[in-house]
Amino acid sequence: MKKIVILTIGLLILLPSFALGQYQSISLSDSYSFNGSNNNKENLEWGEANLTLRRLVNQAYSDGVSELSNSGSPNVRVISNTICDQQPGLNIIDERNLSDMNWVWGQFISHDIDFTPTAVFDTRLQSLERIQIIAPENDQYYRENQTMMSVFRSLYDVRTGLSRENSREQINTVTPWLDGSVVYGTSEQRVNELRTFEGGKLITTEHDNGDLLRLAPVNSIEEQRVRGLAFFSGDTRANENIALTAVNTLFVREHNRIAEEILNDNPEFSDEEIFQMARKINTAIIQSITYNEFIPSLGIELEPYVEYDKSVDPQISHLFSVVAFRIGHSQIGEQFVIVNETDIKQTIPMQEGFFNPSIIQKHGIDSIIKGLFVTKQQASDIYYHDSIRNFLFGEPQRGGLDLCGLDIIRARDHGIPDYNTIRKEIGLIPITEFDEINSDQEVIRRLSQTYRNVDELDPIIGILAEEHIEDSTLGETGYYIIKEQFERTRDGDRLFYLNDPDLEDLREDISNTRLSDVIERNTRIDNVPDNVFFVSEIKNNNLRTDNQISFAYIAVFLIVVFAIYAQQKSSRISK
Ligand code: HEM
Repeated sequence: MKKIVILTIGLLILLPSFALGQYQSISLSDSYSFNGSNNNKENLEWGEANLTLRRLVNQAYSDGVSELSNSGSPNVRVISNTICDQQPGLNIIDERNLSDMNWVWGQFISHDIDFTPTAVFDTRLQSLERIQIIAPENDQYYRENQTMMSVFRSLYDVRTGLSRENSREQINTVTPWLDGSVVYGTSEQRVNELRTFEGGKLITTEHDNGDLLRLAPVNSIEEQRVRGLAFFSGDTRANENIALTAVNTLFVREHNRIAEEILNDNPEFSDEEIFQMARKINTAIIQSITYNEFIPSLGIELEPYVEYDKSVDPQISHLFSVVAFRIGHSQIGEQFVIVNETDIKQTIPMQEGFFNPSIIQKHGIDSIIKGLFVTKQQASDIYYHDSIRNFLFGEPQRGGLDLCGLDIIRARDHGIPDYNTIRKEIGLIPITEFDEINSDQEVIRRLSQTYRNVDELDPIIGILAEEHIEDSTLGETGYYIIKEQFERTRDGDRLFYLNDPDLEDLREDISNTRLSDVIERNTRIDNVPDNVFFVSEIKNNNLRTDNQISFAYIAVFLIVVFAIYAQQKSSRISK
């Protein structure tokens, strides 16, 4: 009898937690607006899309108004050829075992918080403003003095750039909040094109290996950039490469999964209520992964979160978007590794994965996602692979761009000063010799062969060349700029998941959600390592490449042939 009483009491204690779904007691008081406004109640426009980027250091336009900065420094293609060239087949792997998932996450969240498009119509010149990049002598792909890239200048606020007192200021067309805009868009119109308006879900495309993103409408920007069918998501750059599309797809699936759970727990909720709640939780998961996994994986230690600070403007700094966070470009390899469900590894040349959603339409996303966490990423250094230094979106001479060159010229376009001036203005000690930046002799040789002195260094080159600080993937200047940005993005956000009262009951759960959980919940990949931002050696050793499989088959075949031969021979002898 005593046992029955204890059992009954136990059941009564446990019952509510079984009966109550995780989302049963949720309610919604406030959400991110789509255009980013109304977050800061005292400065309603802070964080709105289409405001100008923030200057952490003074502009250094050569005319003080709008002309390119660092104009006395070498030609950008010369810098790219002599400093950034990475020999094909030469892989310099990240020294801390970071996986390819690390750079893809960096790109995914950068598309959430910044985008300064180009091709601005210049009313004075009555044409698009361009910068011609001329090929130097001995360029591998271009004749001397041939234009190898014609770079459009960045979009800017036309009310600026009129005088020294009112110099040119470029625009961030997306919201600087880490608000999931990469999934949901930055306007009501965009999000409406993405919603089913049933059960709070987002539109998907059915596929045997799991749902994919919705297809882009006819004549959309997305459709014009790809051959065949393009995908459509919150950000127009979703098809830029297959890994980025795969991660984006993962978070559309996660949204729909959460929406289903909310509906199960609250059958009375409207489509709108479910949609907004699922968007809030999904966004909180993106924030938590960024702050609890991605930023620490780079070896960046932020100041601990205290509380929302309404005096902080979250706007992305020029130094972050056109300089420091582009460090991700040097982490990109020559190929995508894809791993199928029987652990067979294949590779796809990196440039084949650019604006080529047909690969995902054929394979789904699982094999791409798995490839990302079993492959070590390239080191954060001065070297850029040819995939992005010559074959960016086309063959050289046929539209192939040089991303190292673009990164250098973009900082000059935004009037960013040289590397040493930045160091001085952010409170770091300027360098006086090239060997103070790195002890690697090859890095010093390349820098000193290209630049006449340290004060000429373009900021991205200086930042990429910096020796990494202990336990980090970044040098001192890059570390400072990226840390500063992610702290402001978090602290100035009233709706950041750690401050949002609507998420109080779910906060611990969200903080404990890892990217590996999101992968496990939304794909058929088994045994996902806990921390997918690093390569786990054991997993990687289990994989077999196509060649290894072929060798295995040949070996088995030879053994069988030999066995038959030996058996026939022995039976002939016994006869
Ligand atoms: C295959 C991968 C990638 C490709 C093909 C790519 C390509 C590009 C291109 C073409 C631009 C514009 C360049 C210009 O004209 O100024 C750009 C901008 C940018 N990229 Fe990447 N990128 C890749 C990965 C990454 C990664 C891994 C990161 C960071 C971890 C990153 C961060 C950025 C940032 C912050 C910008 C500036 C965006 C803006 O505010 O407009 N990218 N990228």
